Amino acid sequence: MINRRTQSARSTGVITDQAISSDMFKQSMRLLAGGVCILATNSEGDWCGLTMTAVCSLTLDPPSLVACVNQSTGTHRMMTRTKRVSINVLSNDQTDMAELFSSNAVRGQERFEKGKWIEMASGVPALVDALAVLDCEVLQQTSVGEHSVFFCGVKSAMLQPDRGALVHFNRKFFSVHPSH
Ligand SMILES: Cc1cc2nc3c(=O)[nH]c(=O)nc-3n(C[C@H](O)[C@H](O)[C@H](O)COP(=O)(O)O)c2cc1C
Repeated sequence: MINRRTQSARSTGVITDQAISSDMFKQSMRLLAGGVCILATNSEGDWCGLTMTAVCSLTLDPPSLVACVNQSTGTHRMMTRTKRVSINVLSNDQTDMAELFSSNAVRGQERFEKGKWIEMASGVPALVDALAVLDCEVLQQTSVGEHSVFFCGVKSAMLQPDRGALVHFNRKFFSVHPSH
C-alpha cells in the first residue's frame, strides 16, 4: 500500500526510500551549503593548511568546535603531531584562497605565498583578513572511515565581522552579502 506521503514524493520525483549509494550521499551533501574555512597548522616553522567546509560549533563550555579532516591529507599528518590549529573563516572575496588551499598543484608551504599570513602567539598561521581566526588546541581525535574527527578547544579569536561570508553549495562558491 502506498501512503499519501510516498505518493506525493513519487509525483515530484523525489526518491525517499532507496538505500543510499555513495553517489547519492555525495549529491546530498553537496546540497548542504557550508561556510568555507582554511584550517592551518605549524610544525617548527613549516606551515600546512587545507580548505574545509566540515567545521562546526560543538559546545560553549568549553568553547569548542569539530573539524573533520581526510587522513590522506598532508595537513592531517601535521596536525596530529602539533595539536594546534587555526580555523580561518573566509570572507566573500576569498574564493581564490579557498581554491588555492584545495589545489592538487600547490601544496604545503607554497600555499601561504598568497594572502597575508602572520603567526599567532601559539605559533599557528593566521590569515590577517579572514572574517574570523580561531586559535585552537586539539583535545581529542577519533577516526571514522577515511576521516578523523578532531575535537578542538578554542583558545582565542580575532574577528572582522563587517564583510559577507563565502559559502560552498553544489560544487560552487557563493558570495553572501549582508542584507543591510
Ligand atoms: C569547498 C571544499 C571543501 C572541502 N572540505 C574539506 C573538509 O572538510 N575536510 C577535508 O579533509 N578536505 C576538504 N576538502 C579537500 C581539501 O581541501 C583538499 O583535499 C586539500 O588539497 C588537502 O590538502 P593537503 O593534502 O595539502 O593537506 C575540501 C575542498 C573544497 C574545495
